[in-house]
Amino acid sequence: MNVIVNPSEVIVSLRAQVAASPHDAVVRCQLGQMLNAIGQRAEALGQLSVAIAFVNDPVQADAVAMALREIADSVSAIQDSPISTIGTPGSESDEPDGNPPQDPAVERGIVEFGDANVTLADVAGLAQLKQLIDIRLLRPMREPDLAKTYGRTARGGLLMWGPPGCGKTYFARALAGTMGLSFGSISAADIFNMWVGGSEGNLAAVFNSARVAAPCVLFIDETDAIGRRRSATSVHLINRNVVSQLLVELDGARSSNDGVFVLGATNAPWDIDPALRRPGRFDRTVFVPPPDLEARAGILAGALASVPIGQLDVVKIAKRLSGISGADVAFVARTAIDAAYEEASSGGRTVDVQMRHLEDAADRSHPSIDEWLAIAQIAADSSDDAEMFGPFISWQKLARRER
Ligand SMILES: Nc1ncnc2c1ncn2[C@@H]1O[C@H](COP(=O)(O)OP(=O)(O)OP(=O)(O)O)[C@@H](O)[C@H]1O
Ligand SMILES: [Mg+2]
Repeated sequence: MNVIVNPSEVIVSLRAQVAASPHDAVVRCQLGQMLNAIGQRAEALGQLSVAIAFVNDPVQADAVAMALREIADSVSAIQDSPISTIGTPGSESDEPDGNPPQDPAVERGIVEFGDANVTLADVAGLAQLKQLIDIRLLRPMREPDLAKTYGRTARGGLLMWGPPGCGKTYFARALAGTMGLSFGSISAADIFNMWVGGSEGNLAAVFNSARVAAPCVLFIDETDAIGRRRSATSVHLINRNVVSQLLVELDGARSSNDGVFVLGATNAPWDIDPALRRPGRFDRTVFVPPPDLEARAGILAGALASVPIGQLDVVKIAKRLSGISGADVAFVARTAIDAAYEEASSGGRTVDVQMRHLEDAADRSHPSIDEWLAIAQIAADSSDDAEMFGPFISWQKLARRER
C-alpha cells in the first residue's frame, strides 16, 4: 500500500517536535530536510545549522553534515534565498551615498518590525513580571525627568525562562503593544547560516534593523540556541562566534542601542553562556511560571470575550486545568468555541458557548509541561544559581499546594 505523505503536515508536526525538544538535533535535521524538499532553503539552512550546534555524537554529525551538503549542492537555488547572500558582519553598513538608511535584515527576510496588536491587559497573571517591567521600562518612559534625576534609564535586557506555552513570547509582544513600540522577533533558525561569518552577519543585521526601527522591542527567542554556553560543545566554531557577536551587539559597542529593548526567552536557561547574563546584557533572569488558577481563569475569559456565551463559571473550569500551560488553557477555550460553532452551523442558529462545551474540552486536556518540569528540577538540583532557580523552587512549593 502506498502511503501518501503531505509535506506541509509533516513540517507542522516536525515544527511541533522541535518546539517541544529544541535540542534534538535529529528532529531539527529532519525538519531542515523537509523544508529543503519544498524549496524553503533559507529556513532549511537555519534549522540544519542549529541542529549542528546540538549534535552530540559522530553519527548524528555525519547525518547533519550530509544534509547540509545536499542543500549546498543546489547552490544556484540557495543564491535565490534571502539570507544566503549575507557577507561578514559590518558589510551591510556600506550604504551608497545619499540613500536613506537601509534595513538589511528586513530586506533579507530575517526580521520584520511591526505592530504588536496585544497589550499587557491581555496577559493573564504574571504579576511579578509586570511589576518588574513597570519599574524598569514603563515608569522611566512615562516620567523621563524623574528617572533621569535618579540616573535611571528605560532598560530591556531581560531574559524570560520557563515551560513552553506559558506566555513568554506573548508577554514580549504585549509589552511592545503597551509601550506603543514596534515589535520584531528572531529565533535560532533565522540566525544560523552555514557560510563562514553568515550567522554573525545575520545577527549584526538584525540589530542594525532594530536600531533603524527604534524605539522597538527586539525579542530573541531560543536564546539558549543563539547564546549557547561556549564550553558546552567543542564542535562548533559557529556557535562561539555567534555568542561573541551577540555580546558585541548587546553591549552596543559599535552602535548605540538607545531605544532598542531586548528581551530574550528560553526553555533551557542553564545552557546559556554565563557572559550573556552579566550587567548591561540580560542582567535580569525571570521565571515565567505556568498560569495559576486566577491566570487560567483569565486566559479562558479572554479567549471567550468575543463569542456568544451562556452562564459560565470559568473559575470552576480553571480549577480542573491545574498543571497545564497557558497555550493549553487557550486551546480548551478554542475547542469549546469550535464545538458551539459546529452545533450552530448544523442547527442554523446561534449557539452560546456553555459549561458543557468547556467541560468536554477540559476533559480532553492533559498536563503538557510535566516533562519540562522534571528537566528543570534536575537542572535546579545541580545548580547553586539562586537568582535563576529561587523563583522556580518557590513556585513549585506553591503549585504543589494548589494540586
Ligand atoms: N499569561 C497568559 N495570558 C494570556 N494568554 C496566554 C498566557 N500564557 C499563554 N497564553 C496563550 O498561549 C499562547 C502561547 O504562549 P507563548 O507563545 O507566549 O508561549 P511561550 O512561553 O513563548 O512558549 P515557548 O517556550 O514554546 O516559545 C499565547 O499566544 C496565548 O494565546
Ligand atoms: Mg515563545
